[in-house]
Amino acid sequence: MAEQILILDFGSQYTQLIARRVRELNVYCEIHPFNKIPTLTDDIKGIILSGSPCSVRDEGSPDLDLDSLRGKLPILGVCYGAQLLAQKYGGNVAPSEIREYGRANLSHLDTHSSLFVEMTHGSQVWMSHGDTIKELPEGFDIIASTSSVRVAAFKVEGEHTYGIQFHPEVTHSTEGKNLLRNFVVQICDCNQEWTSDVFIDATVEELIQTIGKDRVVMGLSGGVDSSVAATLIDRAVGENLICVFVDNGLLRKNEFEEVLESYKGLGLNVIGVDAKQKFYDALKGISDPEGKRKAIGRTFIEVFDEEAHKLEGVKWLGQGTIYPDVIESVSVNGPSATIKSHHNVGGLPDFMNLKVVEPLKTLFKDGVREVGRALDIPENIVGRHPFPGPGLAIRILGDITPEKVHILQEVDSIFINGLKEANLYDIVWQAGAILLPIQSVGVMGDERTYEQVVALRAVSSVDGMTADWVHLPYEFLGKISNDIINRVKGVNRVVYDISSKPPATIEWE
Ligand code: XMP
Repeated sequence: MAEQILILDFGSQYTQLIARRVRELNVYCEIHPFNKIPTLTDDIKGIILSGSPCSVRDEGSPDLDLDSLRGKLPILGVCYGAQLLAQKYGGNVAPSEIREYGRANLSHLDTHSSLFVEMTHGSQVWMSHGDTIKELPEGFDIIASTSSVRVAAFKVEGEHTYGIQFHPEVTHSTEGKNLLRNFVVQICDCNQEWTSDVFIDATVEELIQTIGKDRVVMGLSGGVDSSVAATLIDRAVGENLICVFVDNGLLRKNEFEEVLESYKGLGLNVIGVDAKQKFYDALKGISDPEGKRKAIGRTFIEVFDEEAHKLEGVKWLGQGTIYPDVIESVSVNGPSATIKSHHNVGGLPDFMNLKVVEPLKTLFKDGVREVGRALDIPENIVGRHPFPGPGLAIRILGDITPEKVHILQEVDSIFINGLKEANLYDIVWQAGAILLPIQSVGVMGDERTYEQVVALRAVSSVDGMTADWVHLPYEFLGKISNDIINRVKGVNRVVYDISSKPPATIEWE
């Protein structure tokens, strides 16, 4: 088992970001809820206590038995984690009287502290807390302050326990990465050997042990996750992996053919299934977004099941599940309402009676991409934007017809190829076009037209949970709009979506 850092989550929006930063240092880490601490085995080298939207002063706020951890392993408390350490051992945490949000500078810094190696006086950090530590317990020493926060960081005498009241994991903390490296490497003594190649070797070995000579079936979507997962399984079992790639008639223009070619180029044993008509039939007359998702999910299962039953001796189902799908989230404000049901295209019912194998379930998306590149998967798959399982069906507002799909495919292709040609594709997290269910008046030559409106959407994001619209250059938008209206019959107006998430979502349905 690889050396690892244990991150105990108190529900902060930044917990996953801490984990990603630690992994960028080539150190493996796992996130566990604060109330489900795993056994402290030898491979765990240190503990990070996350932040939280709660206040340590509130009754019933997240709590844990710190005595069972303190002194055994290095501990770094971040914000709530630091306040919990201070409060539990006799310090005083109170609401802050002044603003402690946003940028601040570490005006006093104990440069002799192992936590601050290669960090500078005045280093910019990011604060985000309503409470502040007023008094530290006995034996806790201040090691950094800002002009308004006396206890910006502390260390417990005689042990490797630290607390910081700022967020080193966000990029606004300009030397935050140094601080995390200092904790993980200098203080926890981790060896930074967790690389993509190590992950690949260990995973392939594990897959060989688990699957043996059995056969595996796996649905591919054309996306990064399923492609990387399949390539790893292929390395382990070769011809015994049979992939199924379904054309649901809702993919991008030429995507089915192009991706199928890429898969074959990767040496994957893949069956392409043309099920377009089945999906169009199932979607006929359905306008409700959730209704469309359900119809697509059901049809996918039918098609996949039919294919899988043609194969003999299949015991395993491969899936491209990634870490954010399996992290047990800490729900501090009650379960969040389901806004949209995200059907996972690989999510198949129990009646198939297959055992599930998920080689990427410990990786974040950026880790998946790195592993993909280390496996020599072509950039057109590894670097592609996320694309929803229900595809263009949730970008055609209203009911779905093959004609509408065709129009949207043409529009989308002009937009996406335009982004690539203008070198804008890689600065955008996700982009696409939406076909609106309205017509508007236009004029072409001497003719009055009454045709469709399309919206273009391009967002920046880290994980899709929040997003902002990208400020694409006006000249670019102008050119794309012209190209679309001139080349796509049936469209006479193009608009650009300038809504952030929240309150909007990335998809329109
Ligand atoms: P929203 O629209 O919720 O989207 O802001 C966040 C991310 O999820 C994708 N998405 C889906 N993916 N099935 C999927 O596999 C779905 O039903 C679905 N709906 C949204 C969306 O493209 C974005 O990346």
